Amino acid sequence: MRVIKDVQTMFKLVSLFSGCGGMDLGFHQYGYNIVFANDIDNDAVKTYRKNLGDIVQKDIKEIHEDEIPDCDVLTAGFPCQPFSSAGNRKGVADERGTLFHECIRIIKKKKPQAVVFENVRGILSIKNDDGNKLIHSIERMMDDVGYYVEYKLVKASDYGVPQNRYRVLIVGLRKDLNKRFVFPKPIKSDKLTLRHTLNNLKPDIPNSEHWKLSPQSQEIVPYIKEGGSWKDIPYDKLPERMKKIRDNIKKYKSPNFYRRYSWDEICGTITAAATPENCGILHPTEDRRYTVREIARIQSFPDDFVFEAGSIAGMYKIIGNAVPPRLAYAIAGQISEILEGKVNVEEEFAEQLAIL
Ligand SMILES: C[S@@+](CC[C@H](N)C(=O)[O-])C[C@H]1O[C@@H](n2cnc3c(N)ncnc32)[C@H](O)[C@@H]1O
Repeated sequence: MRVIKDVQTMFKLVSLFSGCGGMDLGFHQYGYNIVFANDIDNDAVKTYRKNLGDIVQKDIKEIHEDEIPDCDVLTAGFPCQPFSSAGNRKGVADERGTLFHECIRIIKKKKPQAVVFENVRGILSIKNDDGNKLIHSIERMMDDVGYYVEYKLVKASDYGVPQNRYRVLIVGLRKDLNKRFVFPKPIKSDKLTLRHTLNNLKPDIPNSEHWKLSPQSQEIVPYIKEGGSWKDIPYDKLPERMKKIRDNIKKYKSPNFYRRYSWDEICGTITAAATPENCGILHPTEDRRYTVREIARIQSFPDDFVFEAGSIAGMYKIIGNAVPPRLAYAIAGQISEILEGKVNVEEEFAEQLAIL
């Protein structure tokens, strides 16, 4: 991956809700100069410091705008939970929903040229108390503070990440620049299968440990074939709650619990909870979760990025929460090209519309 060495050419990046640094790593690899990062979480901060450098550990609500240096680009992966379809979907009624307003407060003061938000797909459907869609409120609030906004549900595997992970990216460009953001074109790759991704993993590589399955999972996982799911588990071996679902599978919309991707498939979304029921976290042929290093590779972290956390579950959480660095790299590159005037945005936009 390209790292621009000449400091003069670097854009300055302020990163909010930085986590362990997935988004930041992608921007850094493209040559951005990270001038400020922030997260509240111990495990995230520990890993960030080990790999990327300084990060302020504080609640964003306690950070005054004057503590933040000027920047060209601001990124903010404000927490997923309030908007996640897997979570409680309390949305803006949840106290954490207001963290978006913290981003607006800082953007209003710092006025970066570009802003990038990342969130789960649920953000597209969730409604505010007034019945309006949250995504439209975000657009309106960004418009009010002077930004043109484009948003898209992107698939990480379209940008070289070996994972079918869907996330919403929202990119704003300051209106006075008179430019619109166009999402980068998908990149085709036939090297995204688990066989390619987990190739050549030496046993002494850091983070080769895995989080043990629960006793219940240990009993049922051996029945699941490579490429299979809970449907391979004999009925009498299922836990009671799953028997109820199996008895009435249409009512429950045919869930695909305990998905075990095969060596020749692209992995599904690695989530922060890393539960085998709801996320394809099972190794193709060994009866265990992926190791920390294996999920790091599936998230496109390089092998020299080392994870440190107070617990093994903490490591899975920070990795599952991260923006895959390769996806961030693609966005970082596109923003950089547009800000430098290198992309013929009008032409690209027309091409994209023609495909729709
Ligand atoms: C989805 S993760 C961000 C992941 C990050 N963008 C990456 O690529 O690794 C959201 C982060 O927001 C942090 N967070 C939640 N509430 C916060 C707050 N009040 N102040 C600062 N950080 C907060 C969490 O600790 C978590 O690391």
